[in-house]
Amino acid sequence: MRELQQEIRALAREKKAIILAHNYQPPEIQDVADLTGDSLELSLKAAQTEAEVIVFCGVRFMAETAAIVCPDKLVVFPRPEAGCEMADMITVEDVEALKAKYPKAPVVTYVNSYVEIKAVSDICCTSANSINVVKSLAAKEIIFLPDMNLARYTQRFFPDKKIYFHEGFCPFHDVLTVEEVKKAKEAHPQAVFMAHPECRPEVIDLADAVRSTSGMLRFARESEAREFIVGTEVGLLYPLKKQNPDKEFYPASEKMLCKAMKIISLEDLKRALETLSPVVRVPEDIRKRAYRAVARMLEIPRS
Ligand code: 13P
Ligand code: SF4
Repeated sequence: MRELQQEIRALAREKKAIILAHNYQPPEIQDVADLTGDSLELSLKAAQTEAEVIVFCGVRFMAETAAIVCPDKLVVFPRPEAGCEMADMITVEDVEALKAKYPKAPVVTYVNSYVEIKAVSDICCTSANSINVVKSLAAKEIIFLPDMNLARYTQRFFPDKKIYFHEGFCPFHDVLTVEEVKKAKEAHPQAVFMAHPECRPEVIDLADAVRSTSGMLRFARESEAREFIVGTEVGLLYPLKKQNPDKEFYPASEKMLCKAMKIISLEDLKRALETLSPVVRVPEDIRKRAYRAVARMLEIPRS
């Protein structure tokens, strides 16, 4: 494996490529990447990099976001079939129906969506900045999609606004139940419970911290606590333990496993670098419209 990783690093240098990997990717992919991060960090990095080629290890909407912000770079996505079950839950017709119902409400679209959906949106958000994005809008009524759980979590911070949402969800976060969290807390009474905002509201109610994946990494590093129950996709356990070898991390549920995030192998990555393919292509008219929504999000200050 080490040899393959060294070959990949040499190829990345030769092709002037940067390898970006999401925090849920398999350990060997995270270890060979130039940068790992959450959706917001990876979008920002893609927007700022001077590399000519971006090789994206994550799911399709993430690679698409890189292609939206970098039209003159080559965005290579080793396994195009790696989709996102939440992103699959909404169509442009669904968005148009919500717009017709609430004509004054701007559309806030979670980046976990495909480019066609972003193209009919006003602004994007991620799990790390949904609160700041909604705060940036003067409107009192907002359409939020496709994740109903992130919408309902964000609504908690805006008692004077009404957030209408599409009923999409992530099957690997929505699966976590109150009973499982309570059981994990009983088994680890000293542990702090961190939840991703894609979890159900009643699970969020039990959380000591609600964070994006990189937010959880920061929280665990800075916390005095020694034990953590992790309420997100199990791939995050690897960087958590790597960054905090003296702390203990327990998955809230072993069912929180996103298969699409585990598709890319080192062999796929090597082949993608050798051939600089498959490439993510986004039709230019759709890209331009989606770009407005993504760029508007990227301008929002991080807190
Ligand atoms: P983050 O942006 O928090 O990393 O989340 C991405 C994701 O797909 C969560 O399921
Ligand atoms: Fe999509 Fe859920 Fe997988 Fe994230 S964990 S990529 S939201 S299916």
